[in-house]
Amino acid sequence: MGRIILHEAESFFYRNGRLHAEEIAIEELAGRFGTPLYVYSLAHVRAQYERLRITLAEAAPSIHYAVKANACGALIHALGVMGAGADVVSGGELFRARRAGIPAERIVYAGIGKTGEEIEYALGERIGAFTVESEPELERLSAFARRRGVAARVAIRVNPDVDPQTHVYTSTGKKESKFGLDLERARCAYERAAALPNIEIAGVHMHLGSPLADEKPYAEALDKVAPLCEWLRDRFPSCTTLDLGGGMGIPYRRRQKPFDLAAFAAAVLPRVRVIGLRLALEPGRYIVGNAGILVARVQYVKENAFRRFIITDAGMNDLIRPPLYGAWHEIVAVRETEAHFRADVVGPICESGDFFAQDREAPAVREGDLIAVMSAGAYGFSMASNYNSRGRAAEVVVDGTRVMLARRRETWDDLVRAEDEAPSQYGRVKAM
Ligand code: LLP
Repeated sequence: MGRIILHEAESFFYRNGRLHAEEIAIEELAGRFGTPLYVYSLAHVRAQYERLRITLAEAAPSIHYAVKANACGALIHALGVMGAGADVVSGGELFRARRAGIPAERIVYAGIGKTGEEIEYALGERIGAFTVESEPELERLSAFARRRGVAARVAIRVNPDVDPQTHVYTSTGKKESKFGLDLERARCAYERAAALPNIEIAGVHMHLGSPLADEKPYAEALDKVAPLCEWLRDRFPSCTTLDLGGGMGIPYRRRQKPFDLAAFAAAVLPRVRVIGLRLALEPGRYIVGNAGILVARVQYVKENAFRRFIITDAGMNDLIRPPLYGAWHEIVAVRETEAHFRADVVGPICESGDFFAQDREAPAVREGDLIAVMSAGAYGFSMASNYNSRGRAAEVVVDGTRVMLARRRETWDDLVRAEDEAPSQYGRVKAM
């Protein structure tokens, strides 16, 4: 193996001065599939899933992969084959998870705004459980399940009011947030659930935020929800599961230590054992974050009196994390180089927020060179858009010496596919 860039991301390394994904040189992939290009390592996805499974083996948790992190069908499928379920947050994600072969009973469905149509679809699929986030949702779910003559299994999402010490946009378990119910309200909601027709109480759910640096918020939250869990366990025999959500972090920076899974296990497992419910988790980023990179080609290097800009063919529409959260992603040259210069790494989009890095020591690349934005496997393509009418990037999956085009690059025709009217009809707006 060659020189890796990030801890626990062994799938991306330099061999003979060329960046590789497993056994494949990135230059070859860029040559064959073009840029911008998302490249995923299946070995890394499998390794991370196994790390979780083995470290937590004593509790044999059910692991529901959070599809929102990366909805690429080929990755969801690979995880399903390994035994993972899925955590979905929309009808579309449920559709993708089912299409990729995840058995319905291994699917949990969260989200504060499930529509009637989405609830109908999920009931029809007989999913494992609904993560219910409000009392009105509970009422709607009961009414729909009754009409269909089925039972809806539910876990109520509790909001334990714990500060996860992460970006405000991705903190979800604090009392001001729109997610879940506080512990007192949750107890009343469970009583209501028990009285409602066609509802079966299946468990308790929480998700604190993302990414979390260590196990402390989980321990704090478990201590807070333990009394509720014990109360539920003793009253409702169908209540068997405690879902801790996702949030486990990954290294984004060189020399940053990986999330300490052993410490997480040491904090979580004894507490869950005392509570006496079966552990479930919904990791997204931990599994796929460092399984992906975004490869881009340098179009120009431009200098003004103050700054140097590396202008690439990838933009904020491909990866929005740096401008949206101030997130740090390492940026490396696909052809290894010792030479560096200070630069902003930016895209072609007409906004100053269109950057991957600002005023940073960057590899001294030139027009035509390839760069890789690291740690782009989670919330990269899944948050991509068509802004500036840019087709979304292609996605390839590498597995050892094999390569699969998981999703082709979008064409300009794809951009207008959903616009039904032909241009010849544009002037003829009709009456309703
Ligand atoms: N379960 C629930 C209910 C969630 O809301 C989330 C993430 C997860 C699981 C998975 O969290 P993970 O293990 O991936 O941290 N776009 C942001 C992250 C938003 C996370 C939203 N919810 C980012 O790019 O950092």
